[in-house]
Amino acid sequence: MADKFTVGILTSGGDAPGMNAAIRAVVRTALANNMNVIGVMHGYEGLVNGEFRPLGARDVGGILQRGGTVLLTSRSKRFVESAGQRDAIRKMNEAGMDALIVIGGEGSMNGAYALSQKGVKVIGIPGSIDNDIWGTNIAVGTDTAMNTIMDAVDKLRDTASSHQRAFLIETMGRNSGYLAVMAGIICGAEIVLIPEHPITVDEVAAAVEDAYQRGKTHAIIINAEGSGIRTTELALRIDEMDVGFKTRMTILGHIQRGGSPTAYDRLLASRMGVKAVEALVEGTHGMMTGLKGKGVEFIPLVDVVSNKRKVNMEYYHMVKVLSR
Ligand code: F6P
Repeated sequence: MADKFTVGILTSGGDAPGMNAAIRAVVRTALANNMNVIGVMHGYEGLVNGEFRPLGARDVGGILQRGGTVLLTSRSKRFVESAGQRDAIRKMNEAGMDALIVIGGEGSMNGAYALSQKGVKVIGIPGSIDNDIWGTNIAVGTDTAMNTIMDAVDKLRDTASSHQRAFLIETMGRNSGYLAVMAGIICGAEIVLIPEHPITVDEVAAAVEDAYQRGKTHAIIINAEGSGIRTTELALRIDEMDVGFKTRMTILGHIQRGGSPTAYDRLLASRMGVKAVEALVEGTHGMMTGLKGKGVEFIPLVDVVSNKRKVNMEYYHMVKVLSR
């Protein structure tokens, strides 16, 4: 046992649907390649504390279809500091961990890069509903979140139409407008507010009034959480402006993070999990798995952390055209 290659695995930051599918794929691919697998509980916080448990094939049974993460997660403040990273490496060495696979978002990839800079063999798997990670077309969890948003907005539209109201709906995404823009297209919004392209309350009001005058039975406004305007305030101000529709608002919140992963996310997570272990088998590390075109490729972590993913503004403008 002792001379077997041992890989650790953790999930970090905001949980995302499909993380469990990725854990399962990593564990089973690693076992198929004669490796030991150690599960790290509570993300980087557990790495610093040495919260480890061995993972076998049966330990990851029945989790493929479950949201959240069976390894649990955290946003570790200690690990951000160099001292925390050093403690984590000590714990890894004590446990005989030869490499680490990190499933998480932008912050988690920063942590993975920091470890790789300190000599740890690390592979990242992008997992985040926000889809704000550079180097992959889409992260594990984003598709499920988009479907959750779509389902919620479709329901809200039913009641919005029945009462001829304007609905302001807040999506997650931290500093990224990706989810909001995509929701704008797939849910038929009048206008979308995103951090990347600030607009005024007057512009929102004008779009709502325009929809009313064009004979629409409802107006949908999607506000990304990081847009700079609070949804509660936006709803109040639009309501006061006499734009035809009365307004209501809904903050979708953490509903967007949960639920059973879609077929797309299960497949993506499985492919990335397999690819992450393949990297270690061939001696590759310091990389993140990224979807490029139809293939999963290795993207250097240094590039992932030194580039910012941008929202495609073509999609942003598409929302307006399609809302005629
Ligand atoms: O990164 C995922 C995410 O859900 C963001 O969209 C959101 O801003 C944040 O996490 C919320 O974090 P928490 O669950 O710690 O409040």
